[in-house]
Amino acid sequence: MPGEGPCDAEIMFVGEAPGGKEDETGRPFVGAAGQFLTELLSMAGLRREDVFITNILKCRPPNNRDPEPDEIEACKPYLVRQIKLVSPKIIVALGRYAGRTLLGDAGVKWSGMTRMHGKVFSVELYGVKLNIMPTYHPAAALYYPRLKPVIIKDFKEILKGIVEEIKRGKESTSRGKKGHTILDFLSG
Ligand code: URA
Repeated sequence: MPGEGPCDAEIMFVGEAPGGKEDETGRPFVGAAGQFLTELLSMAGLRREDVFITNILKCRPPNNRDPEPDEIEACKPYLVRQIKLVSPKIIVALGRYAGRTLLGDAGVKWSGMTRMHGKVFSVELYGVKLNIMPTYHPAAALYYPRLKPVIIKDFKEILKGIVEEIKRGKESTSRGKKGHTILDFLSG
């Protein structure tokens, strides 16, 4: 299950692995966690069709177990190609597998989701300069209700601000003025 979205999307979401529903339909995040993700996207001012959504693993692990390190490595070349092609401004890493893998590959030490969620890391990943924001996996937030307000806050406050900045940058660039970049926003 490769994922879906526009090849020039500015915002990319990377989850863990397809579940049963995703395996059946060939589309990412279409089950219960996907429904919650769609709600979270709209809280951040995003439409699902405007973002690229994929996973670390391209196949469903047996019985939905956690990904094994060799499976992550086996699927990595596909993910690397996707990130290079789409070249997004920000990747939202959903859950600890995506967070640890992507930040680790960008040279940022993973110190756990409790500490790292909602923070925006400006990095170079596979030769692409971009930002990574890790947050909890939507399925974890459905399973542990105490995480729900935390992930909602990451989308509604942090991600929404970044999305608005990206939109503003695009508008002022198209008016011929110097566009603000996401990096101006993050450093200011
Ligand atoms: N969970 C994921 O991590 N990815 C999906 O595509 C669906 C559920």
